[in-house]
Amino acid sequence: MISFKLNGQTVNVDAPGDTPLLWVVREHLKMKGTKFGCGMGLCGACSMLIDGVSSRACIMPVQAVANRNITTIEGIGNPKMMSTLQNAWVEAGVPQCGYCQSGQIVSATALLSQNTNPSDSDIDNAMSGNICRCGTYPNVKKAIKNAAADLRNGKGRLQAAQLFDPRATSSLETQEVQS
Ligand code: FES
Ligand code: FES
Repeated sequence: MISFKLNGQTVNVDAPGDTPLLWVVREHLKMKGTKFGCGMGLCGACSMLIDGVSSRACIMPVQAVANRNITTIEGIGNPKMMSTLQNAWVEAGVPQCGYCQSGQIVSATALLSQNTNPSDSDIDNAMSGNICRCGTYPNVKKAIKNAAADLRNGKGRLQAAQLFDPRATSSLETQEVQS
């Protein structure tokens, strides 16, 4: 049994330790917001935050995340309660087919949690592992800059920050979830 925190809740998973985290989240825990793309750590579609760092869940063995904090797109926001970044995403009209988008938002959230005044090259570096076949890159950059400005002006919130900061998660209500 492997335990970790997923979006603030403790989950216990009965799976071989070398099972990719992506399969555990999608198939054992039935959380389908994170997508499978290449399966080789190359496209970023499967990005999740592991202790706040954007990571490729398709090549991450679940045993490597024991007792760590995982945040997926579901922990960042939803249509009824979107993060500042997600609002900026919609206003900038970023999504096309949508397939890469949860991974893009995860990586952008990680960037903004560390840097609310990113330069073009900061954004390029942070987002370089997220491939978009629809070519939404200019709008991704615009959305990140708009969200960063809102965060600097105190107009926004980065909901995921609460979920991958262990000091904050300790105060969140936790619920045991069995796979
Ligand atoms: S599916 Fe994981 S990086 Fe492509
Ligand atoms: S929006 Fe289609 S792959 Fe990025």
